[in-house]
Amino acid sequence: MRTMRVLGIETSCDETAVAVYDAAAGLLSHRLHSQVSLHQAFGGVVPELASRDHVKRLLPLVRQALDEADTTPKQLDGVAYTAGPGLIGALLVGVGFARSLAYAWGVPAIPVHHLEGHLLAPLLEADPPAFPFLALLVSGGHTQLVDVAGIGRYRILGESLDDAAGEAFDKTAKLLGLPYPGGAALSRLAQRGREGVYEFPRPMLDRPGLDFSFSGLKTAALVALRRDTPGALDGQARADLARGFEVAVVETLVEKTRRALRHTGHDRLVVAGGVAANRPLRGALTAMAAQEGAHIHFPRLEFCTDNGAMIALAGCHRLQAGDIAADLGVRARARWALTTEPQA
Ligand code: KG4
Ligand code: ZN
Repeated sequence: MRTMRVLGIETSCDETAVAVYDAAAGLLSHRLHSQVSLHQAFGGVVPELASRDHVKRLLPLVRQALDEADTTPKQLDGVAYTAGPGLIGALLVGVGFARSLAYAWGVPAIPVHHLEGHLLAPLLEADPPAFPFLALLVSGGHTQLVDVAGIGRYRILGESLDDAAGEAFDKTAKLLGLPYPGGAALSRLAQRGREGVYEFPRPMLDRPGLDFSFSGLKTAALVALRRDTPGALDGQARADLARGFEVAVVETLVEKTRRALRHTGHDRLVVAGGVAANRPLRGALTAMAAQEGAHIHFPRLEFCTDNGAMIALAGCHRLQAGDIAADLGVRARARWALTTEPQA
């Protein structure tokens, strides 16, 4: 019997990404075009430019992904697309495009929640986690601890009350004069920094519960910079500050995740989203999971940040579960809670 094969399309922000996933054979191809150089001069993503570039890139990427997967449209069982959350203009490009392909090819279009894509990304790896598990989702837009019972069965245990972890990385990087997107650049700078020169708060660790707050850290970085800089900080001081900031974020994420493991009793932990690419965070979470007797699962580095593979995989699972809207409506939502279904 033929298995299910799905084309996945991701356009929620500044990456145009396309992939083909097969339920039996796994990931057959993935292609990505990053818009970083397009937005860099502006210090952040310009939504209008992002939408226009998605329009330009999608068709060639789809062709390349199908060729690489040695797949014709007739062999596809569905077209999955990121329906939200994200930049509405960017989403609408992907949604309209995916819906049109699906209509032309006579297969279902499958709306996928961007965060569901992220948290299922470790299923693309050789040693995929079994359900249920605890997930720490750390991206540019979200920071959440999620109790995952199965596909579509999510309970938010805690989340950031203000900035997401990635957002705090990016804003602090900007303060340090690093180019957008600053998270990875800040982490590279921090490697040369000394621990303990700059001490930042560990937000909300002294309070019960599993929520986060990262906006105070960025403010603390700003205060430290203003205090220490009549001119510009020298290279070592900038690195020390980056290190102090990173250590505080990592420790906060690790301790809240430890609490969530104990609270839920799960012995499997999934870490996903762009900030899961952060090496000190990966190291500290791995050590904590070992102490707690839990198995830890990360996506490979390139599938921590936005990609089409996670959308194709999530879409394939949704298709297998029969969670597909019967009508031809186009669905895109800039804001969308992980715990509500796309049809809602
Ligand atoms: O998941 P993602 O690609 O996009 C969203 O869905 O938001 O995450 C992007 C975020 C950005 O804030 C970026 O700075 C951060 O992930 N990021 C990192 C690292 N790599 C990416 N943050 C810290 N350290 C890294 N190595
Ligand atoms: Zn993302």
